[in-house]
Amino acid sequence: AKITYIEHDGTEHQVEVADGLSVMEGAVRNLIPGIDADCGGACACATCHVYVDEAWREKTGTRSAMEESMLDFADGVEDNSRLSCQIKVTADLDGLIVRTPEYQG
Ligand code: FES
Repeated sequence: AKITYIEHDGTEHQVEVADGLSVMEGAVRNLIPGIDADCGGACACATCHVYVDEAWREKTGTRSAMEESMLDFADGVEDNSRLSCQIKVTADLDGLIVRTPEYQG
């Protein structure tokens, strides 16, 4: 699926991410800045925090309870905040837009 990652400063990166990977893996493989993913996708670090574009919130689903509690450790959490390692890429997500926070920590 084609995914657009938008950096905090507005820089856009449109990349092709294979189905089955996570939105976090797509970012790391394409060297998108702003996603650190310290835990490697185990839902245990919150440094893969992204903001899902409003138009895509329904398709990307809802946070799991574990994701919800990890997000407590992220800065600047909004209603559309997700951990990108918990969003699995499928053909349905072709065109997905996510924004990365200014920094992760
Ligand atoms: Fe650590 Fe997503 S990569 S919570």
